[in-house]
Amino acid sequence: MNEKAVIIKVKGLEKKYPGSDALAINQLDMEISKGEIFGLLGPNGAGKTTTISILCGLMPSTEGTVVIDGLSLQSDKDRIKKLIGVVPQDIALYPTLTATENLMFFGQMAGVNTKTLRPRVAEYLKRFGLFERRNDRVGNFSGGMKRRVNLIAGLLHQPEILFLDEPTVGVDVHSRHMILESLNEFNRGGTTIVYTSHHLNEAENLCTRIGVIDHGHLIALGAPKSLMEEHSLSSLEELFLHLTGRHLRD
Ligand SMILES: Nc1ncnc2c1ncn2[C@@H]1O[C@H](COP(=O)(O)OP(=O)(O)OP(=O)(O)O)[C@@H](O)[C@H]1O
Ligand SMILES: [Mg+2]
Repeated sequence: MNEKAVIIKVKGLEKKYPGSDALAINQLDMEISKGEIFGLLGPNGAGKTTTISILCGLMPSTEGTVVIDGLSLQSDKDRIKKLIGVVPQDIALYPTLTATENLMFFGQMAGVNTKTLRPRVAEYLKRFGLFERRNDRVGNFSGGMKRRVNLIAGLLHQPEILFLDEPTVGVDVHSRHMILESLNEFNRGGTTIVYTSHHLNEAENLCTRIGVIDHGHLIALGAPKSLMEEHSLSSLEELFLHLTGRHLRD
């Protein structure tokens, strides 16, 4: 695998929501290489969900271009959809169905045949520590467990690129650890991962590169270590403070 091959290319991306005067994202340029774990980081309202929703084809941009694996998002959306998995910020599961039933449903929706899907659902439930609970209704699960099922749902068709919006928000240490471990494992298997977070510490360890976004502007882009070295700082939290004059949690 060529680690350096660009798999996502974003140029001049802008989004203005109808009825709003401000740009939710403003002239975003970035490239993500195959095999990366890329983190899009920023405070509430920075434009993370807007950006990732555009990249995975859930909503149109106002300006700019997105090319994924050599395909234009504008004209090749259907082919791109087969290459990508999407894990949204809001959990979208059927509470009255069991974990297995939910995943069989989402896997079939993603085009995986039942024969392949059944053992894969069991395997992924094991990987994410949920196998013992496979026949329980998702409505009775904790937030962290729901988030793990939500994540598996986006992975069942074994996408080349996985987009996740705040996969670790509001989960306990155990679930967070399991989610991050699994993302690392899928990444080692070749999956490119693009995820958003407002946990700078988490991204510092997990990501090959990050983009820091604030008020719709990309204010830093690079490997966490090089960004910190460049500014002689010892954490991404300090970097954010240095670049914006504010703490991220303001
Ligand atoms: N549907 C919408 N209509 C109008 N404005 C919107 C809409 N969705 C988001 N915005 C605005 O766009 C900006 C960016 O929002 P976005 O949801 O992308 O931020 P975010 O970084 O994901 O924040 P959070 O950390 O809270 O999830 C914010 O100012 C938000 O109010
Ligand atoms: Mg968001």
